[in-house]
Amino acid sequence: MANVRVGIVGPTGYAGMELVRLVAGHPRMTLVYLAGSGARTGPLDAHLPHLHALADVLPPVEALDVQKAAEVCDLVFVALPSGESGRIAWEILQAGRRRGVRVIDLSGDFRLPPEVYQTWYGRQPLPQEAIAEARYGLPERHRDAIRQAWLVANPGCYATACALAVLPLGDLLATVRGPVVFDAKSGVTGAGRAPKEHLHLGELANDVYPYRVGKHQHTPEIEQALGGALQVLLTTQLLPVPRGILVCAYIPIPPDVAPVVYDRYASFCEREPFVRLLPRGEMPHIKAVNGTNECHLSVAWDERTRLLQVFSAIDNLGKGAAGQAIQNANLMFGWPEREGLHLVPLWM
Ligand SMILES: NC(=O)c1ccc[n+]([C@@H]2O[C@H](COP(=O)([O-])OP(=O)(O)OC[C@H]3O[C@@H](n4cnc5c(N)ncnc54)[C@H](OP(=O)(O)O)[C@@H]3O)[C@@H](O)[C@H]2O)c1
Repeated sequence: MANVRVGIVGPTGYAGMELVRLVAGHPRMTLVYLAGSGARTGPLDAHLPHLHALADVLPPVEALDVQKAAEVCDLVFVALPSGESGRIAWEILQAGRRRGVRVIDLSGDFRLPPEVYQTWYGRQPLPQEAIAEARYGLPERHRDAIRQAWLVANPGCYATACALAVLPLGDLLATVRGPVVFDAKSGVTGAGRAPKEHLHLGELANDVYPYRVGKHQHTPEIEQALGGALQVLLTTQLLPVPRGILVCAYIPIPPDVAPVVYDRYASFCEREPFVRLLPRGEMPHIKAVNGTNECHLSVAWDERTRLLQVFSAIDNLGKGAAGQAIQNANLMFGWPEREGLHLVPLWM
């Protein structure tokens, strides 16, 4: 199917504006509908001047009309704050069911079973039938299910970086003893565009600190993405940079397994179009993945502590959000997985 008509709900947000950039450059997608809360309407480049170069191909931003989204689009990306996002994605899916509209939701609303969601997000979950309809959009684990899906729950940014640090272990996951510890750091776009005091330059510059210790909502998502048998301890920290996530995973594997680990990661990465294992001793940089859908991994076995260290870098707005959403759309429509994602990193 060529020229799929695409809608984006939330194009003035960080994830939404990155989706606009990627959809506009996708050879098989045409942007036909942009919608938000109604607070910012009209030409998108009036609100986001960096998108002026796309002015000729951008529809105006409208206040969201669910019926219209379901009528004029074949595929709708919904990138609103959790709570709102899932409700609206579910409404669009139902309104467009007769036409076969597909929906990819970037929030956390469809990612977890209702009771787990309620505990970690502290809010009423969507109905069970809505959660049951969604497929978790981590292609490296659920590629076949995503191909058949009408509704995809796009994974969280930290969850993607952490899960991809461990999943290449494959059947060796069963040998991991004890919790996996993730030391994770993210750029500030991960917190969304709405102004918050702790995100002001004066508060953020020259500082790094942990936040939501023991309470981060991506903790159960990572445990689920790893198959549910392992416990996870996640420490999230805010970096004074706009984008990028760097994770160090500490994985307790038996020493006799250590010699085969690098080859396991290498063969996993050979099969995966967006996960790259760096040569031994080379470390990932967020600058090398920003603006792309890539995940860069590096592994190191520490003989002294008998811990495997895996370093993982992604762009929170790329493989952690909009890039992964495009990858999922490519799978849903049967296109090559790299379509529209041949992206050069923003090194400088
Ligand atoms: N930022 C990341 O790195 C990242 C990574 C992975 C997943 N996500 C997820 O992606 C979603 C969007 O995140 P974000 O960082 O892009 O957020 P954001 O920058 O705060 O943007 C939120 C967007 O939602 C719109 N909006 C808010 N309430 C609305 C409503 N009731 N109806 C219609 N539009 C509404 C806003 O539009 P107006 O301008 O019209 O108010 C804005 O465009 C979140 O669920 C987040 O968890 C984000």
